[in-house]
Amino acid sequence: MPTVHSPHQSLTYSLIASGLQKSYGDTHALDGFDLRVAAGSIHGLLGPNGAGKSTAVSALCTLIDVDDGSATVAGLDIRSSGKQVRERIGLVGQAAALDDILGGRQNLVMFGRLFGLRSSAARARADELLHQFGLTDAAERPVSTYSGGMRRRLDIAASLIRTPAVLFLDEPTTGLDPRGRNEVWRAVRQIAESGTTVLLTTQHLDEADQLADRISVMNHGRVIAEGTPKQLKRRLGGGRIEVMLEDGTRLTEAARLLGEALGTTAVVDDYSRTVTLEVPPGGTGLMSVVRVLDGAALTADDIALRRPTLDEVFLALTDMPPAASVADSSPDSADRTAESADNKETP
Ligand SMILES: Nc1ncnc2c1ncn2[C@@H]1O[C@H](COP(=O)(O)OP(=O)(O)O)[C@@H](O)[C@H]1O
Ligand SMILES: [Mg+2]
Repeated sequence: MPTVHSPHQSLTYSLIASGLQKSYGDTHALDGFDLRVAAGSIHGLLGPNGAGKSTAVSALCTLIDVDDGSATVAGLDIRSSGKQVRERIGLVGQAAALDDILGGRQNLVMFGRLFGLRSSAARARADELLHQFGLTDAAERPVSTYSGGMRRRLDIAASLIRTPAVLFLDEPTTGLDPRGRNEVWRAVRQIAESGTTVLLTTQHLDEADQLADRISVMNHGRVIAEGTPKQLKRRLGGGRIEVMLEDGTRLTEAARLLGEALGTTAVVDDYSRTVTLEVPPGGTGLMSVVRVLDGAALTADDIALRRPTLDEVFLALTDMPPAASVADSSPDSADRTAESADNKETP
């Protein structure tokens, strides 16, 4: 496994940051930033614009000095071993370093030469990477003719010339269309499968949800929540069950029976013939719902279990909600946005 470089210990974490501080004048870009990223995993650093994501990446890549705190990358201290850190990492920032006039292969060979590979080794590595990222057919075409997704993949390939222990991707899909985004996602998964640890920053919750093994949610220079996508969603509660009845005249009756069976509040929406039930974290209650409906000879057109989306988690955790979603600001209420205002509560 290429991530392990220390002869003295097996590395559990490829990235550890503890209490990082970085200020620009009065702006605390990093304000007690903590992070742990398991070797070989994809970690999402998720936060709104200005949260401090790029500053964190720059600090870990040793491109900027921090004011306080400590961090190791692949087991190496960022302050005392900057040069070795830089030799072990790859970075794809927001501005691509590609030469538009050259073809994809020429670009990669050039990067290989820059990194000190002999010309035959650079060519061999270029072909390997072109193949890995599905760019072999376009290898000789000038990069100016590439789609957004192809360019970004070539950019990522260039950062992998030396097989880094840790790859930093700063908002790798910003500006890409859905197809380009999918191409980059596939590339990122491949990289992690080959053993490289990936730290990926994003403002997009679905991206973190799709790619990351664990996510650190960041705001105002520090991490405000950490966990797997599933754990983060669970923090908001279990979600809700939506039962659409065939017979709209029996909604109130169904709501009472279901509410009693699950020990929870049921909300009725006449227009959609739906009873919505909050479910506690952990269990689903779906079996009870089916039993109650069966026992009362109620027919459902649809039964759905809705977990809170990462968007809802994010809005609840950060302080930038659209007014409607966290009106009474308790995190548990944030997943009620989908319900219309004319819903009636039944006991
Ligand atoms: N070189 C800099 N000079 C002054 N302020 C900066 C600099 N870099 C970042 N900042 C400020 O630090 C905060 C965090 O920025 P950044 O790390 O770029 O956030 P993100 O990448 O999450 O959008 C912002 O308020 C930004 O304006
Ligand atoms: Mg940024």
